[in-house]
Amino acid sequence: MTGDTHVHPAWLPDAAFAALGSRRTLVIGEGLLVDTVVRELEAACARHGGAVHHREDPPHPHEFDLIMAVHSAAGALAAQAPGDLGTEGYAVARSDGTTLVLAAAPAGLLHGLFHLVRAGEAAFADAHPPAVHRPALARRMLDHWDNIDVHPVMGHVERGYAGGSIFWQGGGLTRDLDRVARYARLLAACGVNAVTVNNVNVHATEATLLTDRLADVATLADVLRPYGITTHLSVSFAAPRTVGGLPTADPLDLAVRDWWARTTRRVYEAIPDFGGYVVKADSEGQPGPSGYGRSHADGANTLAEALAPHGGVVHWRAFVYDHRQDWRDRGTDRARAAYDHFAPLDGQFDDNVILQVKYGPIDFQPREPVSPVIAAMPHTRLAVELQVTQEYTGQQRHVCYLAPLWREVLDFAPWGDEPPTVADVVARSGGLVAVSNVGDDAYWTGHPLAQANLYAFGRLAWDPGADPAAVLDEWIGLTFPAAGGDGTLRRILHDLMDDSWSVYEQYTAPLGIGFMVRPGTHYGPDVDGYEYTPWGTYHFADRDGIGVDRSRATGTGFAGQYPPHWAYVYESPRTCPDELLLFFHHVGYGHVLHSGETVIQHIYDTHFAGAERTVAMRRRWADAAGLVDDDLHARVSERLDEQVRSAAEWRDQVNTYFLRKSGVPDAYGRTIH
Ligand code: GCU
Repeated sequence: MTGDTHVHPAWLPDAAFAALGSRRTLVIGEGLLVDTVVRELEAACARHGGAVHHREDPPHPHEFDLIMAVHSAAGALAAQAPGDLGTEGYAVARSDGTTLVLAAAPAGLLHGLFHLVRAGEAAFADAHPPAVHRPALARRMLDHWDNIDVHPVMGHVERGYAGGSIFWQGGGLTRDLDRVARYARLLAACGVNAVTVNNVNVHATEATLLTDRLADVATLADVLRPYGITTHLSVSFAAPRTVGGLPTADPLDLAVRDWWARTTRRVYEAIPDFGGYVVKADSEGQPGPSGYGRSHADGANTLAEALAPHGGVVHWRAFVYDHRQDWRDRGTDRARAAYDHFAPLDGQFDDNVILQVKYGPIDFQPREPVSPVIAAMPHTRLAVELQVTQEYTGQQRHVCYLAPLWREVLDFAPWGDEPPTVADVVARSGGLVAVSNVGDDAYWTGHPLAQANLYAFGRLAWDPGADPAAVLDEWIGLTFPAAGGDGTLRRILHDLMDDSWSVYEQYTAPLGIGFMVRPGTHYGPDVDGYEYTPWGTYHFADRDGIGVDRSRATGTGFAGQYPPHWAYVYESPRTCPDELLLFFHHVGYGHVLHSGETVIQHIYDTHFAGAERTVAMRRRWADAAGLVDDDLHARVSERLDEQVRSAAEWRDQVNTYFLRKSGVPDAYGRTIH
């Protein structure tokens, strides 16, 4: 392995291993992931003075501070393992001065190792009976929207804000596989267990990853595997034609099915534990089954059939809508599209098809209702897709800690205000997926504080009930060991980040209406930027009011796609929550919100407040000078300067736009242009 060593350690600095590395540890078990555990412990011990033994039979357990064991190999110790740990779970106990980590399988031991890293000295403090830790979700995947060839419009990483791809470089596989290994290690440490290595928009070069360039994918899989990360590939639905040389990609054509079967067999010969395919079909210009008069189920099942004998899955994306809409056509509603396309197909997908649904019905906006598809397909495996890369949430120039948003999505109860929640639904079937925010930037994520979003995604996918502030606290403790000092840095980071999603929401598009971003780049304000375009993202502001009527009574009927409880709540402005009002209703500027404020005054107030809060954030960060390394401090400061500038631009454009449209002055007479 060659490569760049000037990479920020993120949440795994050497200091995070101090407690483990100073102990005497016995590891019992065999296999690739157990070897990883041993290697990690050896490296930590070399730095911190401890010792690690890797033996079959535990000699005198009392000689060790820590015993880590896969319990099939643990003899008498296995009796201490409570309940069913599954393949990734582990139990941690402490008695008689020894900490014990038991797992049923090597992956569990690896997760147990990172549990101890998070716990630090506390893992060697009080005695406690076995506590079991198991992931709530079996599938915890990151999708990379990375291209091999730099795309003329979308660049190296589509919607990437952290430099180039860490997987691909100079038109081929990266030479810096060490960086890939470090990435795998970071992912394992927060709980992610699957990665897709290329963009869902599969261009010509990337389509050959399935065939001619398969060896590159196998090399990446070899680097990811020791950290328990399964490799997936985005494939083009047209591949049988474009790379297979067949005259058609019709999913019901026998030659096409045979091509998928043969091609997939070769993939498994190269990568025996390959995870499967991710497919964006009939979406934003990507080819799909509709070109042959076939359904999404026909398309997905053909790929599923090829993967099934090998245990693979196909993640079929539900992000399907008409991106060539006529803005004059008020009858078409993009929000309805995923449900309209997929709900009628419930029950028609094979068992190894996972329908991957974006959390909202539109597109990763800072505020959307939860997609109604999640409640509409009880006989289909569903995964929910989040966006760690901050396409619509400040592009890693703005601080925007997304865990609170994700928690709201995961906690949402699609059938009413009682469980099951979204987290329950995906736990039972397809898991959680997110678009990665990582690139070849020295801090991994462009904005150093955006690392917390990647970390939090993994932790919430493992435990959807985790508290966002506690997850942030964990990230702070690991990433900035100095934060343990007098707590100043910890407080600064909480002040900056805990509410940053709500700050971002305040100064951007109001009350759930979404978009108002610059077309193309999606950065910065442009209130009418998408208003007369084919993309289906309109706000319909006029001199009297704003919002999209999605009620059943008078609007597009989207509200009726929800089960009765939410269909009722969203149907009327009387019951609709304020933060989603303009998503569901067109109301006058004088409409009074549940908060008691009018819509227009709410717009003014939140925009002034949000922009002001960014100024306070910048001021607060100044207090961190000297508490973090100078380069990191400077990088965050520079980004906060941009956030302050951008928030003021949002405030001024949005407020000015609505003052001019409505003619209603600000009640407090503040400056609007
Ligand atoms: C967004 C994003 C695109 C991306 C698409 C997707 O629309 O802007 O770049 O391709 O989502 O999720 O497929």
